[in-house]
Amino acid sequence: MAVITFANTKGGAGKTTAALLLTTELLHRNYRVCVIDADPQRWFSKWYEGASLMPRLTVETYVSAPTIQKIVHERRSQWDFVIIDLPGIQSPLLASAVGLSDHVLVPIQGSSMDAQGGAQVLDLLRYLDRKAGISIPHSVVLSRVNPAITTRSMQAVQRLLSEQQIHVLDTPIAERGAFREMFDLHRPLRKLDGALTASGEKAVLNAEAFVQEVLTLVKTGVKQPPAYAQTRIMPELETAA
Ligand SMILES: Nc1ncnc2c1ncn2[C@@H]1O[C@H](COP(=O)(O)OP(=O)(O)O)[C@@H](O)[C@H]1O
Ligand SMILES: [Mg+2]
Repeated sequence: MAVITFANTKGGAGKTTAALLLTTELLHRNYRVCVIDADPQRWFSKWYEGASLMPRLTVETYVSAPTIQKIVHERRSQWDFVIIDLPGIQSPLLASAVGLSDHVLVPIQGSSMDAQGGAQVLDLLRYLDRKAGISIPHSVVLSRVNPAITTRSMQAVQRLLSEQQIHVLDTPIAERGAFREMFDLHRPLRKLDGALTASGEKAVLNAEAFVQEVLTLVKTGVKQPPAYAQTRIMPELETAA
C-alpha cells in the first residue's frame, strides 16, 4: 500500500525508534508490515531477532543501493506497508530510498547536530523537486521532545521549519523511558510490563497519535508548498540550533 522512509543523516535522531513505533502500532491495527533495515548497524533487525514471533511482520536486512529498488518493488505489492529505516550517515541508499517512497519522515531533535542531518535530507528532497521535478511528500517529526518543557533550541527549529514551509507533524515523539525499553526488552510498546502505568499510558497515547497522523498523511497525501524558498535550509538551521 505505502512505502514510508525514515531519514536523517545523523545517528541518534530517533529514526529507528519512530520506525519501530510505527511498525508495532500498524501491526496492532492488523496491517502487514515489511521493514527494510538499511542500516549496517542493524538496530531494527536486532530488535526483531530478539522479539517473539510476529506473523504479520517481516524484516529485510543487508540491503544495498543496487538491491533496494528491486526489494521495495517486490515487497510493496505483497505487504500493506513497507517501512525503510536508513542509516545515520550520508549513504547512497538515501537517494534511492526517498525516490521509492510515498512519504519520507525526517525525525529532527532540537539539537544542532541533528538539525544538520535532517536538513541534508530536506535539501535533497528539495533538489529532487526543483531540478528533476520529482516531488516526494515529506514531513518532519520532532523527536525526543521533553514532554514537560519546550526547549529554546526546539522552538528555534520549529520556527525555522515553518518559515521554510516544511510540513511538521502535529504530534512530536516525546522522550520516554518506555520507548527505550522497547529496544532493551525486544517487545512492542503495548507488551511492556509498564504499559498500564501512567507514563506507559502516555507513551501508548503518543504512539497512537503519531501513527494516526502518519496514516492520515499517507492516505490523503500531504500538500507540499508549491515552490520552496530559494535559499538552502541547512545553513539556517545550523545557525539557529
Ligand atoms: N523518543 C525517545 N524516547 C527515549 N529514548 C529515545 C527516543 N528516541 C530515541 N531514543 C534513544 O536514543 C538512541 C538513538 O535513537 P534511535 O532511534 O536509534 O536513533 P537513530 O535511528 O536516528 O540513530 C537510542 O538509544 C534510543 O533508545
Ligand atoms: Mg537507527
